[in-house]
Amino acid sequence: MIPYGRQLIDEEDIRSVIEVLRSDFITQGPKVREFEEKLARYCGAKYCVVFNSGTSALLGAYYACGISQGDEVITSPITFAATANMLFVLGARAVFVDVEPDTGNINAEMIKEAITERTKAIVPVHYAGHPAALEKVKRIADEYGLKVIEDACHALGAKYKNSKIGSCRYSDATVFSFHPVKHITTGEGGAVLTNSEEVYERLNLIRNHGINKGSFLYEPDGDWYYEVQSLGFNFRLTDIQASLGISQLRKLSHFVEERRQVASYYGERLKNNPLFELPVEKLYAFHSYHLYPVRLKNPFVEKKREIIRTFREMGIGVQVHYIPVYRHPLYRKHGYANVHLPNAEDFYRRVFTLPIFPSIREKELEFVVRVVNEQVERLAKSGGGKCGT
Ligand SMILES: Cc1ncc(COP(=O)(O)O)c(C=O)c1O
Repeated sequence: MIPYGRQLIDEEDIRSVIEVLRSDFITQGPKVREFEEKLARYCGAKYCVVFNSGTSALLGAYYACGISQGDEVITSPITFAATANMLFVLGARAVFVDVEPDTGNINAEMIKEAITERTKAIVPVHYAGHPAALEKVKRIADEYGLKVIEDACHALGAKYKNSKIGSCRYSDATVFSFHPVKHITTGEGGAVLTNSEEVYERLNLIRNHGINKGSFLYEPDGDWYYEVQSLGFNFRLTDIQASLGISQLRKLSHFVEERRQVASYYGERLKNNPLFELPVEKLYAFHSYHLYPVRLKNPFVEKKREIIRTFREMGIGVQVHYIPVYRHPLYRKHGYANVHLPNAEDFYRRVFTLPIFPSIREKELEFVVRVVNEQVERLAKSGGGKCGT
């Protein structure tokens, strides 16, 4: 099966992990610090705190930006559920705003309508690696005194205009994931970038049990003294993972370039196909193609199940990203049963993602294109719709 995404680990990565295994630090130590410094430098942000997943990094970012009980946070339903789930954990609620039909990103023009007295923040998700309309989001956030937290789990290596995602030029914090299908991996892992010292300090607290070893509220009992000053967790990344992250980060630009080459390969060969529309790259965007989402055209959309089943039977692991979050039972049970956002629904009806990852071979890409063309022929023959509509 050709998966929709996978990691690329080389001998240099393996050597760097082995080196840490032979050292004194295997949990959080100097490699974590080095990874944070290098990520911050790469993105052009002041601070970086790494976490043991993108999910814990999201929770950390929400907490550090002051989201709490009763708050409402505006976000997109076309995302992985963790974006909204971590709001639930803090007693806050996601308010879903509809998406742009082409990018699947939050429609910034519709954000204002969703703002209430309880709104605390906006969380744009850079779906598939295409940046959301950050300038518009930031303008609205400034007008209403809201925080902006970017869910950039898909978008390491992407740029909005000339700013790297992660520079936090338009936000209070930006969250990344290092799950194996992402641009770089640490096995599991995540990070929050920020330019705010206060957010940075709160991120450090929530990552490590709320423990502050530096500035105390009470008189220290002795050299061993530390204080638990707020609620926290063990969200630490290990040095083993961080050293893999450092090694992967060296190759990030190359990984992004390879992904963009796969996208142009599909773009050239599939641009006139009657089955689906290809992803777009808006003028302001530098897409880092975590995913390659295509959208079925009419009338093939009615055959989505069959089309996906055929791809999978042929050994191509296409996937659907995403079921709109409000459709999940957890959300239906908690007051979202009547939420129905037309563009998100339509996007979900049409979308599936073709394989894209740096180590994909030309033969595999040729095979994907061939299977697309075969599906077009098969559907035309079976009367699945007139080609070209
Ligand atoms: C948009 C988005 N946000 C958050 C996450 C959570 O990241 P992780 O799997 O590293 O916990 C993911 C993971 O796929 C994601 O796609």
